[in-house]
Amino acid sequence: ETALMVEQILSEFRLKKEQLKEVMKRMMREMDRGLRVETHQESSVKMLPTYVYSTPEGSEVGDFLALDLGGTNFRVMLVKVGEDEERGWKVETKHQMYSIPEDAMTGTAEMLFDYIAECISDFLDRHHIKHRKLPLGFTFSFPVRHEDIDKDFEMDVVAMVNDTVATMISCYYEDRSCEVGMIVGTGCNACYMEEMRTVELVEGEEGRMCVNTEWGAFGANGELEEFRLEYDRVVDETSINPGQQLYEKLISGKYMGELVRVVLLKLVNEELLFNGEASDLLKTRGSFDTRYVSQIESDSGDRKQIYNILSTLGVLPSEMDCDIVRLACESVSTRAAHMCGAGLAAVINRMRERRSQEVLKITVGVDGSVYKLHPCFQDRFHKVVRELTPHCDITFIQSEEGSGRGAALISAVACKMAACML
Ligand code: BG6
Repeated sequence: ETALMVEQILSEFRLKKEQLKEVMKRMMREMDRGLRVETHQESSVKMLPTYVYSTPEGSEVGDFLALDLGGTNFRVMLVKVGEDEERGWKVETKHQMYSIPEDAMTGTAEMLFDYIAECISDFLDRHHIKHRKLPLGFTFSFPVRHEDIDKDFEMDVVAMVNDTVATMISCYYEDRSCEVGMIVGTGCNACYMEEMRTVELVEGEEGRMCVNTEWGAFGANGELEEFRLEYDRVVDETSINPGQQLYEKLISGKYMGELVRVVLLKLVNEELLFNGEASDLLKTRGSFDTRYVSQIESDSGDRKQIYNILSTLGVLPSEMDCDIVRLACESVSTRAAHMCGAGLAAVINRMRERRSQEVLKITVGVDGSVYKLHPCFQDRFHKVVRELTPHCDITFIQSEEGSGRGAALISAVACKMAACML
């Protein structure tokens, strides 16, 4: 009987194909509104022009510094861009990863930038390049202002690049069909190459420009209301940005663990889990890491991993409890994969429509901890995307060693353009 009641509660997370199609359709509509001058302001999906064009201007050769500020890590890279007959350019990198301490992450912008400056200083020392004035490309997963970073060192910030764009470019280097970039990590976002003539905010009709969808904000106009559950509302209301990034909150790593925790508390309250008693830790917001979701779903079947995690959270679970917790994780992460799949299907179907091709052959470059580290997210996600995109031949590739390389390549192009303008 318990099993039945649990199933009933968790079944709310299951989305039918028709519902996913509806999400996709609404996403397509907001994308369209975001691109148009007269509806851009009110659209929930902002569709920001990035000024990264399809026609490469050629790039400067030489050394570039790239900073890559992701959700969980900060990378500094030295990238050598050289000429290569076959591919156009050749890149070689040296990089160093720094983890961002909690207080720098949650403190003021100044604290974060002080920490970043320390890391850069360390990197420049290690590579004996402190005396050189290198052009810098900066990849970031949230909006930042220019002057914050280049005041500290002798550097010219030549390009500020959203991480989805840098991911796309770094994968484009491997595969020239890569015209979509996506992040499913701490946050969730995507970019793609749009026809210039439909990017109304920018003049020009020829070729394509990369558009940063900022799709995480989808839902701000009520588009997701019938899909959001009581748990989503709790997570949103207790977050630092209530009412915002509603689509992202259904998907990304920043919220996945917390969502599971809220679901577990509901099951406890219904006396379906842990004998109806939760530990203080489990009652604490943020105590259920998103990485637990991955670990629990990776459990081989002997429940050891699940048992250990729940013990660190202060509960002593029965076998049945372990199985129920696993089901809760699967429900939340599967819905995330499906919701995200509906979003990407919207992007790809739009591209196919605009290009009026019989079959659209396209590669998607992806990064982010949820996509890369969760044991089943990828398969569930790919399956849904393919189901929703008939007549499309999609290849997924992962961005290796981060998206900073993409930022350096964009900087190299930017330097060339600047040199041409002099
Ligand atoms: C990294 C990229 O690998 O992934 C970053 O280099 C990106 O640019 C990041 O922001 C996103 O993943 P997560 O899991 O760190 O948020």
